[in-house]
Amino acid sequence: MRLDKLLAQAGFGSRGQIKKLIRSRQVRVDGEFAVADNLNVDPSLQDITVSGKPFSYSPDVYYILNKPNGVVSAVRDEQHQTVIDLIDPSDRRTGLYPVGRLDRDTEGLILITNNGPLGFRLLHPKHHVDKTYYVEVNDELHPDAPSFFENGIAFLDGTVCKPAKLQIISSSPEISCAYITISEGKLHQVKKMFLAYGVKVTYLKRISFGPFELGDFPVGKYRELTEEEKKDLKDYLD
Ligand code: URA
Repeated sequence: MRLDKLLAQAGFGSRGQIKKLIRSRQVRVDGEFAVADNLNVDPSLQDITVSGKPFSYSPDVYYILNKPNGVVSAVRDEQHQTVIDLIDPSDRRTGLYPVGRLDRDTEGLILITNNGPLGFRLLHPKHHVDKTYYVEVNDELHPDAPSFFENGIAFLDGTVCKPAKLQIISSSPEISCAYITISEGKLHQVKKMFLAYGVKVTYLKRISFGPFELGDFPVGKYRELTEEEKKDLKDYLD
């Protein structure tokens, strides 16, 4: 791969900035100053340093983003800001996409990667990746609600959902709060499940996805998975 392209993909700035880095003799390949932007290099075979620091390049990136309300879970959109727009240009990679989908008005944890097969595997029904949501609804959740969700809800069109785990936090005729854990990803699944119970979701936030938890990570921010978390992800799929 061309040196300038590699450094751009690894987030060292624009082509112009990388040109400057190379011209100012800050990039070495196997100990020698790189003199040409278009030098062909292979980071798995050669030692590359930038400003004296060893360059480590992982072609796959994994980010956890806390999606805000109003942002779409898509790579591009004509009208709305996308989750990819929230990734700093220096952290973007070719092929970056969100794994799964949250509605535009749903907040919370979404995994973003450029590892294509990973998304396919995580979304494949055989892996039963658990997703937990914090949910607010506009009416009461009675003590029988957990068993209603546990029994596998059927939508009016005949679609039957796998058992879901409902944990009621509080209940009143104006607003009730709960956690719900599902292992599928049908379109608008949580909202439709609560409609089947007879109440409307007024706020929805995904707080965990597989082995990952959002905790108090700020809305609109993203971070890279730690090495430990990447291992968790691999173990989760094995
Ligand atoms: N279920 C929904 O209804 N909406 C989401 O965004 C995610 C799950």
